[in-house]
Amino acid sequence: MNKNKNLKNFYNKVYIKGEKKHFTIKRETVSLSEIKEVLKQISWKGKKVLDVGCGTGLFAFSAAKKGAIVSGVDFSTEAIEIAQSQYIHKNLKFSSTDVNKIKEKFDVIVSNGTLEHMDNPIKTLRLLKRHLNKNGCLIITSPNWTNPRGHMLIPLLLLFDAPITLVDIHYFTPIDFKNFAKKLDMKLSWNTFDRSWGHGKILVEDFKKRIPNVLRDSKLPNDKKKINLLIKWIEKNISSMKNDLPHSGATGLYILSLKKTH
Ligand SMILES: C[S@@+](CC[C@H](N)C(=O)[O-])C[C@H]1O[C@@H](n2cnc3c(N)ncnc32)[C@H](O)[C@@H]1O
Repeated sequence: MNKNKNLKNFYNKVYIKGEKKHFTIKRETVSLSEIKEVLKQISWKGKKVLDVGCGTGLFAFSAAKKGAIVSGVDFSTEAIEIAQSQYIHKNLKFSSTDVNKIKEKFDVIVSNGTLEHMDNPIKTLRLLKRHLNKNGCLIITSPNWTNPRGHMLIPLLLLFDAPITLVDIHYFTPIDFKNFAKKLDMKLSWNTFDRSWGHGKILVEDFKKRIPNVLRDSKLPNDKKKINLLIKWIEKNISSMKNDLPHSGATGLYILSLKKTH
């Protein structure tokens, strides 16, 4: 099983190779929809913000442009070098830091697509909670599996230990976050987005590349014709169905807020 410390080297290699080459769907499409979705959740002006697992820095830069004072941290030195070279703003700094080494307190801590890489997510969330200022909140995005994408991949993972993604240690749903909120004694609001990836055209694009990789890595039969049959079946029967349930999106967005103290 993956361990968080092993992902540091893995991610360094991804960033050296280039994210575009690594991911099965257009990274810019996913990343931009995620950034747009997170940015519209709160007013950023004047907020002291930490972006944990900031990768190559686009979200941190976008929040700084909205008026936040942002620190982006990532344990991948390669990611931080790229971030520092491509995004310069007076309210923005990056450092190569592990989540466990965070100092200072923040009004908002954002972590996009990173909590699922942690060995012990509730422990990480507790740590992040301790780094919030009064009335602060955590904004977390993470792949969500309660949609046709998850209904097809999770059985492969659970029944055959198939490596359906190479970096995720956990596969969250909104139910997990409801439980986290209870344990943390924080207020939760959530929604999901990237609906076409959970349930539509982007899912088909993703599966065309992902399914052969998963079968190869699982050492399962990897027959192109059979995979085409599956893709055609999905195109005909899934892509056209309604995908607007609250949990239909491929990415979950969770806001965990500190409860008001009187
Ligand atoms: C899927 S990438 C997401 C990057 C970026 N947030 C984005 O949305 O494009 C996950 C990131 O988390 C970072 N990461 C994983 N574990 C970490 C840890 N313990 N401390 C700091 N960063 C970590 C990885 O290096 C990687 O850049």
